[in-house]
Amino acid sequence: MEIIRVEGGHHLGGSVEVAGAKNSALKLMAATLLAPGVTVLTNVPNISDVHIMGKVLKHLGAKIEVRGVHELAIDTSEVSSWEAPYELVAKMRASTAVMGPLIGRFGRAVIAMPGGCNIGARKMDLHFLGLEALGVHFDNDHGYIYAEAADGLVGTTVTLSFPSVGATENLIMAAVRARGTTVIDNAAREPEIVDLIRMLNEMGAKISGAGTPVIEIQGVEELYPVEHRVVGDRIEAGTFLVAGAITGDELEVTGFAPSHLGMVLKKMELMGVQFETTGNGARVRRPGKILPTDIQTLPYPGFPTDMQAQVLALTALAQGSSVITENIFENRFMFASELGRMGADIRIEGHHALVRGVDGFSGAQVVSPDLRGGAALVLAGLVAEGETDVSAIHHIDRGYENFVGKLRSLGAHIERVDVADDTDF
Ligand code: EPZ
Repeated sequence: MEIIRVEGGHHLGGSVEVAGAKNSALKLMAATLLAPGVTVLTNVPNISDVHIMGKVLKHLGAKIEVRGVHELAIDTSEVSSWEAPYELVAKMRASTAVMGPLIGRFGRAVIAMPGGCNIGARKMDLHFLGLEALGVHFDNDHGYIYAEAADGLVGTTVTLSFPSVGATENLIMAAVRARGTTVIDNAAREPEIVDLIRMLNEMGAKISGAGTPVIEIQGVEELYPVEHRVVGDRIEAGTFLVAGAITGDELEVTGFAPSHLGMVLKKMELMGVQFETTGNGARVRRPGKILPTDIQTLPYPGFPTDMQAQVLALTALAQGSSVITENIFENRFMFASELGRMGADIRIEGHHALVRGVDGFSGAQVVSPDLRGGAALVLAGLVAEGETDVSAIHHIDRGYENFVGKLRSLGAHIERVDVADDTDF
């Protein structure tokens, strides 16, 4: 099995460009189902989650031509199935993003019910409530969701009790084909949703309010295939900015909009980190000590839960104590116990992590519990004394393209190592 081995204590420098956003690309790929023909997506990240979404679309009958490492031509003209099978949904719950577009195109969808994942139950009740309001009837049986809009979709006002990213996206992708106008109140405002709405409007949809809590969608008869560039990955960018902050080295991260990381940059500035932003990225430096700060994860534009682990690792080396509160997922502190094995002093009380800064980490063998926790453990390894071996790195490969190669290009002493899986007899 492969692990990531990083030797701490080496200085970073230079510049790194991030890929397109995983959490946009997956939905843009699903949205191609709404526009029969060939949609070309550029700046697509080369990560395993994109490969799985490609398998889902092919299972539905789409044809995908990889035109370059970051360019996909997706032909959905022959799509004839509306079933997302368990073996693919179980691999990646984001496969459920095909539910909205399948209902939009065919008036029905059969989706394997995703299980929970390492960070929480990941329910879908808000997706169902919203789509039912548009006229979709749901049944579930033997672990599958059967959705059908027998009389078609009729626009209405849907108020989400929580600004769920996935529910907002599925609702939008169904409502674009509803009769009449749909208003989503308390909608999610993430930049990836703005990117999805931008592409849908390029396809001929009539959606307003992107990035605000109230999104209005006027249903249209037809959508047309387009070419669209995936927005830069703000979370990958934030991860590399933390790499510079944690090592104290100056580096540049490009390929993203700093305005998409506003709260993260603000919080890190309170921790003594300095940024110089440009239209396409930011330079990071940390001249002095890391200062403690308290963080609450919240829906955008609040502090993103996907940056919680990375910044928590930074607070673990601060001069003082910090309280990190995770409001979005029920179980997103699992990497904290691994960080504790590297010397961090973190106590978990429910949704709060009470972090007492320590002087340094010591390298250790740690297990990546999930995508962002795994990345955070690698960042900790950059400054740990000695060597850190991070295993279960398939989690990291889901959302970071060439994470090791990019860190090496910045000067890190890091490599992927094939180690015998000691569970073999
Ligand atoms: C998206 O997940 C992202 N994934 C997540 O990124 C991200 O952390 C999350 O949004 C929040 O920003 C993708 O885009 C593929 P939610 P999603 O629906 O859509 C509860 C990463 O690391 N909820 O906003 O699943 C849910 O259980 C991943 O890249 C319901 O209760 O997020 C969770 O606690 C991790 N009922 C909270 O809301 C519902 O119907 C946020 O979920 C839907 C959600």
